[in-house]
Amino acid sequence: MKKSLKNWQGVTAIIGVDWGDSGKGRIIDDLAQNADVAARFNGGANTGHTIENNFGKFALHIVPSGIFNKKTICLVGRGVACDLESLIDDEFKQLKKAGVSWRNLIIDPSATLTMPWHKLKDGLRENTRRQKIGTTGRGVGPAYADRVERVGLQVGDLYKNDFSKLLKEEIDFQNKYFALELSYQKILTQFQNYAKVTKPLIGRTIPIMQKAIQKGQNILFEGAQGWLLDVDAGTYPFVTSSNTGIIGIWKSFDLHPKKINNIIGITKAYTTRVGAGPIPTKIEGRERQLIIEKGHEIGTTSGRTRDPGWLDLVLLKAAAEVNGVNQLALTKLDIFSGFKKIKICVGYTIGDKKVDYLSGNADFLSKCKPVYMELDGWKKDISKIRKFTLLPKAAQNYIRTIEKITNVPITFIGVGPKREEVIYV
Ligand code: GDP
Ligand code: IMO
Ligand code: MG
Repeated sequence: MKKSLKNWQGVTAIIGVDWGDSGKGRIIDDLAQNADVAARFNGGANTGHTIENNFGKFALHIVPSGIFNKKTICLVGRGVACDLESLIDDEFKQLKKAGVSWRNLIIDPSATLTMPWHKLKDGLRENTRRQKIGTTGRGVGPAYADRVERVGLQVGDLYKNDFSKLLKEEIDFQNKYFALELSYQKILTQFQNYAKVTKPLIGRTIPIMQKAIQKGQNILFEGAQGWLLDVDAGTYPFVTSSNTGIIGIWKSFDLHPKKINNIIGITKAYTTRVGAGPIPTKIEGRERQLIIEKGHEIGTTSGRTRDPGWLDLVLLKAAAEVNGVNQLALTKLDIFSGFKKIKICVGYTIGDKKVDYLSGNADFLSKCKPVYMELDGWKKDISKIRKFTLLPKAAQNYIRTIEKITNVPITFIGVGPKREEVIYV
């Protein structure tokens, strides 16, 4: 059999090399057909991973996208900002309706709980910010802040005898010092119910991961967001609050990056950004409208329109290098069918000077002007094509040009949103 990503083995990580929404949910759903373990390591309910398969269409936030393979153990690692309201009141309902079991879901007791006050404070802070970040309002920033401050409640606290006391103390603190009006009784009842539902699903995920690795099983890591939203390396402050790259796996699972065999950087054939922050290659006018409409570029979590841009190989190369990406996955190539010309950004200038990329600096990026290479487009609908050589020559050239400039092979090309609407190269 030809060695292809479809028959991947060992430890594989999928991380966004962009600002998120690249199709991580769909690639995980595709690759999980081969996974013994699928694991989420960062992010919370800010994540919105769309999956379309034979069970239906789903928007997952906390549940790993490998859940549709009933043989796959799905782990929610300690690095996830665990939002039980999303998990139980939304995601379990979606799965139940479609007859999908979550029996194999295991949530780490050391994951930080996203609590109602985190969501409130996320909104309050955002409303008063002069320069808005455009957060998803899911309380993820405040939940991670509490973890770093060492005051956050963790999933395991739900099952302690003194949970009600811990909760009361925290609510009293929030009400007193942050002038919130939280109802202890209401939140206690809500979380006692969540505790009941999740009790059979709690387990230490690191030993499970270690055992799976010792046995040589196939393990799939599902990143959330994308490298350019990383709290440290992204365009601060227009970032999320976790480590979105390969280091996030180390933080959640004590797993050194050198133990990961395939590090797959995923991006769309163009880029998008939702929320504030610079996009050097932002597309305006008719092409912007076309991409938004054809690509349904509306946020899975927030319902906001995503801003499209041409693929930015300066950023892509930086993300790939830092994270040790050895393969690229490119989704939504089908959206470009009908485009006469397609641009890719191959460099930056500020004024008349050529500049190199500077990590973690939004001001710098907002000053950068892209240097474009313009490629021919193609007319043909490519959504039914499953073989690289059957793609129009211009589409093949688009792929090969990206590979040549980034020096990373593209092994997965998405040509439609559904499972198996993909070309394995
Ligand atoms: P994620 O957050 O990275 O999982 O991505 P989202 O689910 O937020 O956004 C990706 C969107 O693109 C979803 O609506 C997917 O169904 C859709 N999608 C993914 N891959 C493809 C593809 O190859 N072609 C098309 N047309 N749509 C795709
Ligand atoms: P997935 O996993 C796209 C963006 C928000 C905002 C910034 C901070 O679906 O790719 P936050 O709520 O995290 O404090 O918001 O980050 N953002 C995402 N954008 N995809 C995501 O996740 C995102 N998660 C957060 O829009 O600009
Ligand atoms: Mg998304």
